[in-house]
Amino acid sequence: MVVLVLGGTGKTGLHVVQQLLARDFQVRAIVRSPDKLPTDVVKHAGLTIITAKILDLIDEALVEHMAGCTAVISCLGHEGNFQGICGKASQFLVSDVLRRVCRATRDVKQPVKVILMSTGLYTKPDNAEDVRVRSTCGQRALLGLLSTCLPPHNDNMRAAEFLRTELEGIQGIEWCGVRPELLVDGEVTKYELHESLVCSIFSAGQTSRANVAHFMCELVQNPATWQKWKAKFPLIYNATP
Ligand SMILES: NC(=O)c1ccc[n+]([C@@H]2O[C@H](COP(=O)([O-])OP(=O)(O)OC[C@H]3O[C@@H](n4cnc5c(N)ncnc54)[C@H](OP(=O)(O)O)[C@@H]3O)[C@@H](O)[C@H]2O)c1
Repeated sequence: MVVLVLGGTGKTGLHVVQQLLARDFQVRAIVRSPDKLPTDVVKHAGLTIITAKILDLIDEALVEHMAGCTAVISCLGHEGNFQGICGKASQFLVSDVLRRVCRATRDVKQPVKVILMSTGLYTKPDNAEDVRVRSTCGQRALLGLLSTCLPPHNDNMRAAEFLRTELEGIQGIEWCGVRPELLVDGEVTKYELHESLVCSIFSAGQTSRANVAHFMCELVQNPATWQKWKAKFPLIYNATP
């Protein structure tokens, strides 16, 4: 099985690449800075590195890179500098790339699982529990402030809404939006999954990037996990010891 990883040089994306390789998947990674990958990863026989700026790839090239892939995992995220946060060129990095990947599935000949690294700041409007948990004035005010002041937040919301509203009934494509809240470093440990938000933004739960990667790999590899979580936005939290 071949998996295409986007954002593989990022803090979570690298865990995804490493864990997929450890599970003997063939991995294709589209990265703009391959020198950021550790040497053992670069030399791994299971990894194909495609050096390109994903936003500059023409649709035909994207279709070519997706050929033979059974899953695409996006761990793209905005750079923390002025250009990454406010720059027009990458304003819709996450959502535009996701849209293009989904469009490209029409031209590849096998069903594709699309897995998005989303965020616990996303409230699923048709999930009553999500709406209830986010109903306080303080949280609504904070989310409004983030929408106004932080363009990458809007991009992540746009990507999640794209999955929720625009893929129903599209042949050959299934999706899952994984929602960690507060990302931390750390090893793979036990973790919990929930269908709906369980805590306020002000008491956000922690998740290690390694655990997010582990769950994404399970979604790709384990049919029962995929059946349970496809077309959903699972929340993932490190289990309390
Ligand atoms: N921080 C949190 O607590 C938190 C919580 C929930 C969700 N999230 C979301 O999770 C996602 C991943 O987080 P992370 O911390 O793993 O991200 P990260 O370490 O910042 O990695 C981001 C990845 O996106 C790539 N990228 C950035 N700008 C790009 C561009 N213009 N063109 C092509 N590639 C580009 C980076 O490539 P380069 O290496 O080349 O720069 C890198 O591979 C983000 O969307 C974030 O919003 C974060």
